[in-house]
Amino acid sequence: MTEMQDMTGGRELVMVSNRLPVDRVVEADGSTSWRTSPGGLVTAVAPIVEQLGCLWVGWVGAADETLDPFEIGSMRLAPVELSEDDVELYYEGFSNGTLWPLYHDVIARPDFHRVWWDRYQRVNQRFAERVAQHAAQGAIVWVHDYQLQLVPAMLRELRPDLTIAFFLHIPFPPSRLFAQLPWRKRVVEGLLGADVIGFQQVTDAVAFRMTAERFTRVPALGNTIVVPGTAEQHSRTVLAQEFPISIDAAAFAEVAARPEVQERSRQIRAELGNPKTVMLGVDRLDYTKGIRHRLKAFDELLGDGEIDADDVVLVQVASPSRERVDAYRQLRDEVELTAGRINGEHGSIGHAPLVYLHRGYTRDEMVALYLAADVLLVTPLRDGMNLVAKEYVACRTDEQGVLVLSEFAGAADELRDALLVNPHDIEGLKAAVVRAVHMPREEQRRRMRSLRRTVYDNDVAHWATGYLGAVRAAAEAQRPSRTGERTEPIQVSTAFVPRSIDDRVRRLAALPQLIVASDFDGTLAPIVPRPQDARILPRARQALEVLRSAPDTYVAVLTGRSLAGLAETGLQSEGWIVSGSHGSELTGLDVSVVSGDAPPLGSPLTGEEDERLQRVVRRFERVLGGEPGVRLERKPFGIAVHTRQVPDAEQADELLAAAVELGLAAEMHVREGKQVREISVRDSNKGSVLRSIRAALPAAPVLFLGDDVTDEDVFASLGPDDLGIKVGDGATAAVERVPDPETATAVLALLAELRTGVVIGSE
Ligand code: ADP
Ligand code: G6P
Repeated sequence: MTEMQDMTGGRELVMVSNRLPVDRVVEADGSTSWRTSPGGLVTAVAPIVEQLGCLWVGWVGAADETLDPFEIGSMRLAPVELSEDDVELYYEGFSNGTLWPLYHDVIARPDFHRVWWDRYQRVNQRFAERVAQHAAQGAIVWVHDYQLQLVPAMLRELRPDLTIAFFLHIPFPPSRLFAQLPWRKRVVEGLLGADVIGFQQVTDAVAFRMTAERFTRVPALGNTIVVPGTAEQHSRTVLAQEFPISIDAAAFAEVAARPEVQERSRQIRAELGNPKTVMLGVDRLDYTKGIRHRLKAFDELLGDGEIDADDVVLVQVASPSRERVDAYRQLRDEVELTAGRINGEHGSIGHAPLVYLHRGYTRDEMVALYLAADVLLVTPLRDGMNLVAKEYVACRTDEQGVLVLSEFAGAADELRDALLVNPHDIEGLKAAVVRAVHMPREEQRRRMRSLRRTVYDNDVAHWATGYLGAVRAAAEAQRPSRTGERTEPIQVSTAFVPRSIDDRVRRLAALPQLIVASDFDGTLAPIVPRPQDARILPRARQALEVLRSAPDTYVAVLTGRSLAGLAETGLQSEGWIVSGSHGSELTGLDVSVVSGDAPPLGSPLTGEEDERLQRVVRRFERVLGGEPGVRLERKPFGIAVHTRQVPDAEQADELLAAAVELGLAAEMHVREGKQVREISVRDSNKGSVLRSIRAALPAAPVLFLGDDVTDEDVFASLGPDDLGIKVGDGATAAVERVPDPETATAVLALLAELRTGVVIGSE
């Protein structure tokens, strides 16, 4: 995970979560020890902080413990104390009695109590103060999950120098359910204190953006929400986007390869009586996990004789969770009663078809269980992601085993080769279990191979790089305005700019108002084989920075990349307007300059669009995902098929044609670029976004530079006072042409020099 190393750009990383990654346990003899905290949050985040090191602020898991900061490995842990009352009102009450059920499709009824809410605010304030007290100047603070949604705004108030990121590990509810929350506006405002808000799924991000618009009236432009300024604060942008979480797949596979773990898995099977089929469920004992539905299906299958109690064992590991909350207590009673009944009815002396284990296990033991299981049953009624499903896949290096997965788990978006089920449909669930039990080895292999590729391609490093990349970009975007720093002094210019362009640039430089806009890849940044390696030419960056700080000059970058993809390149874009995803995303346009009747610059995906997009994405993954050299890139509004690395040119053309066919068949909009086809649910393009940007800014001529077919929409929209410059070969509507990004940079440098008197250095 080396690429993660510089993800914070040298800034201190501060993690904030309700629980520290370790719980303090008091043993029977009074001695104390530390054990890994329960849940997916820690599983996902721990490998990142092992790499990066951090300060971690959180609760030690026991009431009334006051502990000094301490260290474990590369982590410094700063405990926050919770009293008995805090645990009851803030943790068990508002967090797990109100928010948890509300955010999980109200599977259980959420309770709304004002005393719970009051305590939630107070405890969130305590967390914010603790962070403010410990965080270094300019640190990146990463706040986790539903227990701490007010912390971002509280922290911004206390420490405006910090970059604040938030990640919601559970689903964000649809706006009509969130509307039930009496304090809905306050929660949204709390979250909007962050610079970046990460969600598990596209649907969560969309729901949040719609909710924010509805309850706080902040406009969402694509993935970006613009928070208007106040007397104390400038207007700001907040990126609210999906970043599906994952696991350290290689680390799990490594444990699975250890001989003693494999031996332990054989031993587990032997202890179970070497049945033909071992089925496994692994969950926190939570009503969202669909354990009742799973047991009901199992019970009926045994009763119907569809599966034979002598041949099959279901091992249900249910780790203790939130045991003092009513709904959890009831669930435990019910599950334990059902387990006893199943064994009473279908078991025999010496053989129980259901093994129920109510405790936590070590990582090694979990992996041994995964290896021992022929079938893993993951049947939540709603789950943000579900890492258990990914762990099982990561461990099955033998390419055997069947994953039965609920379509209501976030993981179902990615793990399409699982047997997908609707756990409410007991008949369907039973049919899937029978199918899993009898699945031929060859089919298991095919499915598992594809699942494994997905989990490896999208592991935790991939997640952290995308998310922290966006956070780092946010940190860099705010640097100058917070520290008053200026661009370094610049030396000599050695640009060669063709004469005809030179004349036109001189005229533009003298105009009272000017908009300078440019494409990114192939124009400001030379094309490279791997898109994430593209970098803006330093001189182009300097020129744009100088232009941006000149009076009455606006700088915009219009790219087909998503804003997150642009952030991966480390682009420093302080004060620039940046449009991503061909106009579907926008950031950096100060809302105070948007004129009342400017056309809206994109809005979040509608539910219908989102569904359509998900379907198309799955289709593309199935049809083109396995083609050597093809890279599929998820965009907020579509999917891009890249063939730059397909070795054979003819085959690359065929694949691009296939992508167009598939896109058109699904009634999507198709954009052609160099060795890329973009399929999108929205018909935005760079031409239309530039028109909107112009409408929002004072009237001004435009200089636009671009190299790709998609830039032609802009060239076609330019008027006689504007200047379009095509970079490289190919037919164009632009009036001028330069051969390469270096010369394009020279044009920008010349413009900057003429307009400001600052000389842009050559490098
Ligand atoms: P959640 O975050 O809702 O608990 P996930 O499936 O995303 O659900 O993550 C659960 C994590 O907890 C996984 O890493 C899983 O291996 C771990 N886990 C679940 N049950 C146990 C258990 N009994 N012992 C040890 N680890 C467990
Ligand atoms: C889920 C939540 C986490 C939580 C974990 C364990 O993974 O997303 O925020 O920490 O469950 O729950 P607990 O209430 O025991 O902390």
